[in-house]
Amino acid sequence: MDYPEIEKRKTFAIISHPDAGKTTLTEKFLLFGGAINTAGTIKRNKASQSNTSDFMEIEKQRGISVATSVMGFEYKDKRINILDTPGHKDFAEDTYRTLSAVDSVILVVDSVKGVEEQTEKLMAVCRMRNTPVIIFINKMDREGKDPFDLLDEIEKKLSLSLCPLSWPIGQGYTFKGVYNIFDKQLNLFQPDKSKVTKPIIQAENLDDETLTEFLQPKEISGLKDDLELIHGVYGKLDEELYLDGLLAPVFFGSAVNNFGIRELLDTFINIAPSPKSREAIEREVLATEKPFTGFVFKIHANLDPNHRDRIAFLRICSGKFERNKFYYHTRLGKKLKFSNPMDFMANEKSLVEEAWPGDVVGLYDSGNFKIGDTLTEGEILQFKGIPSFSPEIFKEVENADPMKTKQLEKGIQQLTEEGVAQLFIQQPGNRKIVGTVGELQFEVISFRLEHEYGAKCHFRPLTFRRSSWLTSKDKKKMEEIMYRKQHQISTDKDGNTVFLADNDYMINLAKRDFPEIEFHTTSEFT
Ligand code: G4P
Repeated sequence: MDYPEIEKRKTFAIISHPDAGKTTLTEKFLLFGGAINTAGTIKRNKASQSNTSDFMEIEKQRGISVATSVMGFEYKDKRINILDTPGHKDFAEDTYRTLSAVDSVILVVDSVKGVEEQTEKLMAVCRMRNTPVIIFINKMDREGKDPFDLLDEIEKKLSLSLCPLSWPIGQGYTFKGVYNIFDKQLNLFQPDKSKVTKPIIQAENLDDETLTEFLQPKEISGLKDDLELIHGVYGKLDEELYLDGLLAPVFFGSAVNNFGIRELLDTFINIAPSPKSREAIEREVLATEKPFTGFVFKIHANLDPNHRDRIAFLRICSGKFERNKFYYHTRLGKKLKFSNPMDFMANEKSLVEEAWPGDVVGLYDSGNFKIGDTLTEGEILQFKGIPSFSPEIFKEVENADPMKTKQLEKGIQQLTEEGVAQLFIQQPGNRKIVGTVGELQFEVISFRLEHEYGAKCHFRPLTFRRSSWLTSKDKKKMEEIMYRKQHQISTDKDGNTVFLADNDYMINLAKRDFPEIEFHTTSEFT
């Protein structure tokens, strides 16, 4: 069957440890797609924080991209949707949620630093969903690790099989270019930070005399040896394994120099998956189904500082989304119509009349949406795959201005619904505990509570470092643990029972004491 609108869409995220080159690569993609004209656009925004993806005063002060935004563009008849993710590790949860809305990812690894902590965490989330991954080894213009050692390190640390599709000739000062294994082309390195150039030489046969014009005999023989080894060790690309998230094609290049990007992008649009089916609690929903379905994976506040509205980012899973049509909000059980849905093309947002599976539209929201909410044409569905993960820092909220109690309640409620942090309620006393991945989120919450809600609070640090979601068939045992461990029991935003602990050791002790109870590492266990 022919579904051109679905097949042409490639929705993905570029992920990396901070500073590996995610922003630079994103920008080069936009440059290739003609969505921006000069390099530096995204970077400048990163510094000035004044564009759509960066909106909060706190970001301006700190120069950290807190937000996740969408950049769409057309390239070779494909509609590419890049979902941007915050680089700062304190906002990792935001990135995890964004990964629920993509069909594949490109992972950027710094050739000097190799696999870093955040890379491992992000890959663990990709593995949970079998997300297909392409790896781009960046900064080949710098003296980095040996390429074979890098591949070994990536395979080991990320538990992933690899298949290099391009191979570097030299590195750092001796970096001459990359050999495209797939097309048998030699791509010579010419540092160029602002334009798109094409220094490509057909090199079907590496014994061809003309190659000596460009490379030293030693470099040619080194390349031949490397290619032989690669062929023996890694073989040919098995696309099925890639689509199952078990094998990652690898490219080498230098994002800042615009080098190796075209190969990456061209291969990406060829092999990366178009929107597929998605799991809902009730059933699997095919992208090709006619009725519209979609879910909210991100909520932004204050995109436009003149309005208090929030924007809910909706990923379309099936059917066609249309402006001004009534859709069914399955959690609230009510119909909603959107007269100003937004589409995102590079740095600009515009009104969207219709959108297709794989697209992300921004919906103005006055408080109807929570992360994970599903919209349909009437069917009762709830998409899966947007779990909460254990926070790492927990603090109790203490009201600092008793005259503003209501504002504080509302602020905490809304901010946690947006996914800025997780809220746990502890009894007795209805104590509010906020859990985050990083300290920075507490600053964001304090800042926003004060500026948007006129409320003030203190955060009292707690010793908890882990949360575990509890379920059991044995009601008596559940009551027992809730009684015996009451200082560590709380409920999350959906009313699930959550066990809070100082470390994994304490969780293991509790598991031993209560074998009838299941301890889940995320909030999604259906
Ligand atoms: P991120 O989004 O993953 O955090 O990384 P980002 O793209 O901001 O890149 C981090 C730094 O690495 C930037 O330098 C960027 O210019 C540099 N970079 C990116 N790709 C390459 C590459 O291929 N080779 C080399 N040598 N450097 C690269 P910066 O000094 O932090 O910023 P800027 O002043 O250069 O803009």
